[in-house]
Amino acid sequence: MVSAKPIDKACRRLLSQGMAKKTSAKPQAEKGWTIRHERPEDAPLVAALNAESFGPGRFARAAFRLREGVRPEERLSFVAIEDGKLRGNVRFWPVIVGDTAALMLGPLAVESDQRGRGIGIALMVRGLEEAKALGHRYVILVGDLPYYSRVGFRQIAFAERKEGGRGPPSSKLAFPGPVDPKRILGVALDDAHPLEALGGAVRRARIDDPVCADGAPLA
Ligand SMILES: CC(C)(COP(=O)(O)OP(=O)(O)OC[C@H]1O[C@@H](n2cnc3c(N)ncnc32)[C@H](O)[C@@H]1OP(=O)(O)O)[C@@H](O)C(=O)NCCC(=O)NCCS
Repeated sequence: MVSAKPIDKACRRLLSQGMAKKTSAKPQAEKGWTIRHERPEDAPLVAALNAESFGPGRFARAAFRLREGVRPEERLSFVAIEDGKLRGNVRFWPVIVGDTAALMLGPLAVESDQRGRGIGIALMVRGLEEAKALGHRYVILVGDLPYYSRVGFRQIAFAERKEGGRGPPSSKLAFPGPVDPKRILGVALDDAHPLEALGGAVRRARIDDPVCADGAPLA
């Protein structure tokens, strides 16, 4: 289990100081892009970016099942734009963990020839700052700790295994599909609600557009 306190403190500090300054060492001159809210007309470009970044396998991911039929939080969907071109996108989705409301971050994607410029971190920082301002308490995701720890994410603690229990460790969070527990990460956005309190099954907080199993809209 990863120790919680220092990283939560670090996250809060980054949120209050502006994480982009802290987490990206890229010179200001390189940053020709700006971040703004996603607009409806961005959707086809965002879809193409995600298709290129994640491939067809994205539909089979447990995280995708939590987005199925759900619209992303409009106020927490951001794009990075440069010279009128889409460079990256991040979205957040409403979920319930156990009986606690949370957000799930993802997909986060940056155009392949634009990576390493700080766009991904900046998109997340903007999203986390806005989520905090809107009163959200927790953000979870499935991803690589070395990357997401840069903006304060840490591994969700593993559940205690019963005495004599066998098999791999399980996360305190249960996704609707197989997920490597080491990649289940979270961040608490306010002091009063520590990440340790989060646990249980992860499910969609709402369904906006019911679909059949084959993806067709329900009449
Ligand atoms: C992951 C992704 C969003 C990062 O975007 P980006 O704009 O290149 O990220 P940033 O420029 O903000 O950060 C780059 C830094 O993070 C590091 N990094 C990127 N992905 C990483 C990963 N998976 N694990 C560890 N470090 C990673 C880079 O090596 C780089 O390090 P440096 O600053 O020391 O040079 C981008 O690579 C991407 O779109 N990948 C394909 C989609 C994807 O995998 N999304 C994440 C799903 S979990």
